[in-house]
Amino acid sequence: MLKVENLQILRNQKTIVKDLSLELAKGEKIAIYGPSGCGKTTTGQAIAGITDAQVKGQIWFYEENRANDAWFLRKHVSYIFQENALNPIMNIGKQLAEVIIANSNNIPSPKEIQELIGQALSEVDLPESFARKYPNECSGGEKQRILTAIARLKNSPLVILDEPTASLDQIRRIEILKIFKKLQSSLILITHNPYDIKELGCGKILIMK
Ligand SMILES: Nc1ncnc2c1ncn2[C@@H]1O[C@H](COP(=O)(O)OP(=O)(O)OP(=O)(O)O)[C@@H](O)[C@H]1O
Ligand SMILES: [Mg+2]
Repeated sequence: MLKVENLQILRNQKTIVKDLSLELAKGEKIAIYGPSGCGKTTTGQAIAGITDAQVKGQIWFYEENRANDAWFLRKHVSYIFQENALNPIMNIGKQLAEVIIANSNNIPSPKEIQELIGQALSEVDLPESFARKYPNECSGGEKQRILTAIARLKNSPLVILDEPTASLDQIRRIEILKIFKKLQSSLILITHNPYDIKELGCGKILIMK
């Protein structure tokens, strides 16, 4: 479903990522592992269409090269990180409602939307009251859960998790990994943590230097 070939990423003419290739089947999970600064986040964000760096090479999605189609990549890839992509001036309920409406064939009624928001939050173990909160009122781990709920609502074929447990204690780490395991999508896990690779069941590991 995803094939990255000869990916090269540059910033100000400086090569940050050189000649990276990877392949991911539908539902498959791969870990990207490597030291700080080696370009893991840069790679993930290029695949998600959310980088401002210069990207060369091919990013095949269902047999089509989408390397220069950030709009397509953004639509199909959910990128989950702690300093996250939630809208700071919209409450969580409204953000979930937007995704629900965008992904429904018939526009649901306000009551149905309310129910779907409650359901989406409960799937990531958050109470319904989170719908009224703003992102700055949520912890890093809570924001990850909300992004996970959004990825589930969008039915994203590919989810990229960037250091998803880096700042969590052991209990929260196990909880969030359990939630990520519910994702049906193909998964790229960016991590420093071998425990997460094992726990999420990544069948492949790409080591970057
Ligand atoms: N916006 C940016 N502008 C300029 N340089 C950047 C930018 N983002 C990243 N870099 C540089 O690109 C290189 C790769 O950074 P990247 O964030 O991809 O590393 P990483 O492997 O994710 O590291 P970490 O494990 O610390 O998160 C680093 O040398 C970094 O300083
Ligand atoms: Mg990083």
